[in-house]
Amino acid sequence: MIFVTGGAGFIGSNFVLHWFAQNEEPVLNLDALTYAGNLNNLTSLANNSNHHFIRGNICDSTLLNRLFNEYSPRAVVHFAAESHVDRSISSPESFVQTNVMGTFRLLEAARSYWSSLQPPEKDGFRYLHVSTDEVYGTLLPNDAAFTEKTPYAPNSPYSASKAASDHLVRSYFHTYEMPVLTTNCSNNYGPFHFPEKLIPLMIVNALAGQTLPIYGDGQQIRDWLYVEDHCSGIRRVLEAGTCGETYNIGGWNEKANIDIVRTLCTLLDELAPANDRSVINQKTGAPVQHYAELITYVPDRPGHDRRYAIDARKIERELGWKPAETFDTGIRKTVEWYLNNQQWVAGVMDGSYRDWVAQQYGSKKT
Ligand code: NAD
Ligand code: TYD
Repeated sequence: MIFVTGGAGFIGSNFVLHWFAQNEEPVLNLDALTYAGNLNNLTSLANNSNHHFIRGNICDSTLLNRLFNEYSPRAVVHFAAESHVDRSISSPESFVQTNVMGTFRLLEAARSYWSSLQPPEKDGFRYLHVSTDEVYGTLLPNDAAFTEKTPYAPNSPYSASKAASDHLVRSYFHTYEMPVLTTNCSNNYGPFHFPEKLIPLMIVNALAGQTLPIYGDGQQIRDWLYVEDHCSGIRRVLEAGTCGETYNIGGWNEKANIDIVRTLCTLLDELAPANDRSVINQKTGAPVQHYAELITYVPDRPGHDRRYAIDARKIERELGWKPAETFDTGIRKTVEWYLNNQQWVAGVMDGSYRDWVAQQYGSKKT
């Protein structure tokens, strides 16, 4: 079995769903169900006895030690994190707690468990740490894309906390020879993406006639990868990556934010015309003709990184991994998913996705 952390979040839940679409190896899924964890992402696994979901915190060493001993996983895939840059600017503490302390505690529990194993289980064990391209900092327009050798230069509390966790993971290889792997991926998009991030927020706001807030001049560049491709990259690194190495994962899809938002508006004009849905501009009260009318420039994010770009040649050359989606196919699938899953969106927007947690766990401690 594999031990996944953060498997009720955006990428973690996609990973678990794709894992079971490919094989039946059991998954132990540990997630604290913060605001970003949503069990509705996993409803299709309700009757799958190979999926073992535990609500719990990666900072809880006692729980971690118990889970390692009880489930004897052959690998850890660590997604759990605080992940939203804007939240890290307004409240950085939970980022340090979960991303740094949580990763440390998970590493310690994994080390203790791994040390107790005998060959061949010991040699086969893997600890895969899921990280981000944001640890490399920001690029100028003509700079080469980030490689695995680019020096770390994190600029937000989020990326600084992820950088710290990456360094801890690296140190466990060099100090203890623990079999770790690290992936640094670019911005993901796709199903189950929480609508606080750019792409889902714009889709949800547009359909509701809300403004589409563009930070600063909208010319900041991100390198977008369809989430399923990220998941297949992680699976590939898990099965064939060299311990102690890091692998950049990306799809060579650099886009300016304003172009992303305009693309989304064009797709929505085609797939869900505002006229047909009688969308009203919530600010002016006027009927919306084209979703792009809702675009509104707002003050920039403090310390906003200008450009990210991933050089993904190493994972392609060494592990033969390439993304399956182009941006055009991935973004269309994503818009279609949000249009076809309005109930999921409604559950997030009215907060009812948290009701199940309250009912299920109530006053229980874990
Ligand atoms: P997310 O915020 O959607 O999900 C995070 C999950 O972790 C949630 O289910 C949450 O409940 C859980 N969690 C948070 N704190 C926890 C704790 N202390 N203990 C246990 N569980 C906890 O994040 P995501 O976008 O799915 O990102 C997953 C990972 O991938 C993160 O490590 C992130 O840094 C990395 N990453 C994300 C992107 C991206 O574009 N979203 C890109 C590259 C790397
Ligand atoms: P986001 O999805 O928060 O991801 P990250 O900050 O990790 O890259 O933001 C993507 C880009 O979109 C980033 O440059 C900030 C910008 N952005 C907006 O312009 N408006 C918004 O409302 C949001 C959420 C993001």
